[in-house]
Amino acid sequence: MPTQSTSPHLPFGENKNAPWYGMDILSVKQFSRTDLEYVFGVAHEMRGMVERVGTFDLLKGKILANLFYEPSTRTSSSFTAAMERLGGSVIPINEVKYSSVSKGESLPDTIRTLECYADVIVLRHPETGSAAIAAKAARKPIINAGDGVGEHPTQALLDLFTISEELGRLDGLTVTMLGDLKYGRTVHSLARLLTLFGARLNYVSPEILRMPKEVMEEVADKGIVQTEFGSLEKVLAETDVLYVTRVQKERFEDVADYEKVKGAYVIDPDVMKAAKSEMIVMHPLPRVGEISPDFDDDPRAAYFRQMEYGLYVRMALLAMVLGKA
Ligand code: NCD
Repeated sequence: MPTQSTSPHLPFGENKNAPWYGMDILSVKQFSRTDLEYVFGVAHEMRGMVERVGTFDLLKGKILANLFYEPSTRTSSSFTAAMERLGGSVIPINEVKYSSVSKGESLPDTIRTLECYADVIVLRHPETGSAAIAAKAARKPIINAGDGVGEHPTQALLDLFTISEELGRLDGLTVTMLGDLKYGRTVHSLARLLTLFGARLNYVSPEILRMPKEVMEEVADKGIVQTEFGSLEKVLAETDVLYVTRVQKERFEDVADYEKVKGAYVIDPDVMKAAKSEMIVMHPLPRVGEISPDFDDDPRAAYFRQMEYGLYVRMALLAMVLGKA
């Protein structure tokens, strides 16, 4: 019989006292302000190390299983890069159709399989709540890389790190979220996280893509002012962070509805004349027309820098749950 650890998330030979050691990262609701300061502090150090030495052996010998049931470029490759820059290695499962999932294997069984080989599992799945189901089945840490229209906590952490690095502050900002607020999981996580910093939130979307009631109620419970708009005009001038999202075509039940709203907003240099000079435009990417490439050279365009911040935040998170930060 193999020896089992007594705690479900504490494999052998690790320092149990490190904060976040062995924990799952499923939702931004797990993070307090102090936790965020800690994550960002570690991410800062990671940035410094990458700039100085590129790759180092903090997680040497550790293995990450990168399990993606939905397409991904940034999340998947940044977790891979994060693990490899820390000296660890990766089992990449980007095409579940080539795995036993295509034979009908359940998510818990797939997770139980991968944790025999890996120390941590990053999971992206089309169903809300799937990361929590995986975490229940797993003894090793699960990191939610997007569960349907639910949450995308690591994206929200990197979004907040981006704001902090770019604007130098997090408190009392006016953040305008634009586009598909119904299906966009990144804005669901970010809105929740911003409640810790007394943000003022503006939601600009077509009627059928409004921010879900349950997210708005949670945010309102924290005393945050939220206002909904159909167009950007009224709020652009006061905005510190304009967070643009893609209309999530794959989540629509009726493609005719998608066609009606797909080009609803386009950010370009002309539109941005109304915005402050000290503000940033963010986007989790991919973009599909909602930000014109003509705007890319504007210093306020932070969306490409945002991707790089993601590497450092994901390095920090991996080091934390593996007890090395
Ligand atoms: C986002 C996602 O997958 O939710 N992408 C990402 O992780 N950077 C946003 C999107 O797909 O529109």
